Amino acid sequence: MNDADGTNFFADGTPGQPAPERGGKIAPFHDRQPRGVVPVRVSMTVNGSTEEHDVEPRMLLVFYLREVLGLTGTKVGCDTTSCGACTVLLNGESVKSCTMFAVQADGTDITTIEGLATNGEFHPMQQAFHENHGLQCGYCTAGMVLAAVSLLEEHPNPTEADVREGLEGNLCRCTGYHNIVKAVLAAAGSGSGSGGAA
Ligand code: FES
Ligand code: FES
Repeated sequence: MNDADGTNFFADGTPGQPAPERGGKIAPFHDRQPRGVVPVRVSMTVNGSTEEHDVEPRMLLVFYLREVLGLTGTKVGCDTTSCGACTVLLNGESVKSCTMFAVQADGTDITTIEGLATNGEFHPMQQAFHENHGLQCGYCTAGMVLAAVSLLEEHPNPTEADVREGLEGNLCRCTGYHNIVKAVLAAAGSGSGSGGAA
């Protein structure tokens, strides 16, 4: 709700940021912080670079990656831990970045889809998705690829059932699961599960 000068108020009456001018640009999510919130300094390695920023304690990791670092390859599909579109690697393991706060990732090593290729060469999992048509609209693809990389780290030689079970937290709205599973099995066959980027 707004008062006469256009300042946003929260339900409990806490004043927030002034409302944008009519027709003006709406501030990015991370700039829309209620007054009085004390930012917290976070430092983490993202795709090999050290990143340090002051963030609102309640900022989700996915919004830190997308809106502060500009890494929009990580998608927001549901914001409720259901779809896996926001999957990234945290210390080599897949996590749903809409499920944790940026402050919880302090001191960790994050890989997003932008950091998976090396020297312009696809990671074997990306190559396998490409060769096996493991994507349609592509919205789920970044999360699916990173979840699959993590899966092969744990199970380098999975069966089809292992792949289907391992990726059950990642949804493809296009229902392109057949080729996605084919791609992961092909990547396993190429030795993608034995370690990081090609
Ligand atoms: S956006 Fe995170 S699980 Fe759907
Ligand atoms: S390729 Fe479209 S959501 Fe999976």
